[in-house]
Amino acid sequence: MRLKGKVALVTGGNKGIGAAVVRRFASEGAKVWSGDILTDKTNELSDNLANDKGNIFHETLDVTSLTSWEILINKIVDETGKIDILINNAGIYERRSIEETTEEQFDKMLAVNTKGPFIGIKLALDALKASGNASIVNLSSTAGLRGSFAVHYGASKGALRLMTKSIASKYAKDGIRCNSVHPGPIDTEMGHTAVPPDQLRDRLYERIPMGRFGTAEEVANVILFLASDESSFVTGSEVVVDGGATSK
Ligand SMILES: NC(=O)c1ccc[n+]([C@@H]2O[C@H](COP(=O)([O-])OP(=O)(O)OC[C@H]3O[C@@H](n4cnc5c(N)ncnc54)[C@H](O)[C@@H]3O)[C@@H](O)[C@H]2O)c1
Repeated sequence: MRLKGKVALVTGGNKGIGAAVVRRFASEGAKVWSGDILTDKTNELSDNLANDKGNIFHETLDVTSLTSWEILINKIVDETGKIDILINNAGIYERRSIEETTEEQFDKMLAVNTKGPFIGIKLALDALKASGNASIVNLSSTAGLRGSFAVHYGASKGALRLMTKSIASKYAKDGIRCNSVHPGPIDTEMGHTAVPPDQLRDRLYERIPMGRFGTAEEVANVILFLASDESSFVTGSEVVVDGGATSK
């Protein structure tokens, strides 16, 4: 059990990559809270609730709301006294060029993808310090490493990449590590929105050396490593999970 005794909070854990992380963490012995704006539990998570002996908890969280974060973090700390693992996974995507993006759409993108992790880390700091051995993983994207079509999405993920490094250097002495993960196209609802199944997808397959989408589980495996003590000397780093797409 690679996460035995650990307390984890995963944002956006009701579906896609987040749900795979929640599943994986619970199977490795962690007590896992999924904080998601989706109030109805999707089958992905409900199945786990039945299977994981009460180690998975579902709570409502809107990552753009400070009050919402406060309520959830207080609840976890009241019950466990600490948070060992914070996975800032909740995110949104829109396939829009800059010409098609309004100011409101830009603000919303940044609010969810960048301000959300900022508030979460800020409010969880005491609980993470209480762990003594904490790990934060921020879900950025390959769009946070190089230019891409959706300018507002790329901006939100590029900012998150650098926020990760700032947190890593500031809080290393407090026993908090912080790393970012940069997936390429992954087989989730968001991945299918980003790359619709038409000629675009064929072109994309040609650009990815491994010639396929990744799975949510393949991303969850990397997040598990960064969340666990196996990565104890890894902080401020960025791990790309993209089948080789950014290697060329
Ligand atoms: N799927 C991909 O191809 C891909 C590629 C690169 C990066 N990513 C990143 O990985 C993360 C997960 O992506 P995914 O593919 O699983 O997406 P998804 O759309 O399948 O799931 C996203 C989850 O986040 C939740 N969420 C959205 N807004 C929220 C809010 N305000 N507060 C709380 N929860 C909220 C949703 O309800 C959902 O459960 C995202 O940050 C995404 O940007 C995904």
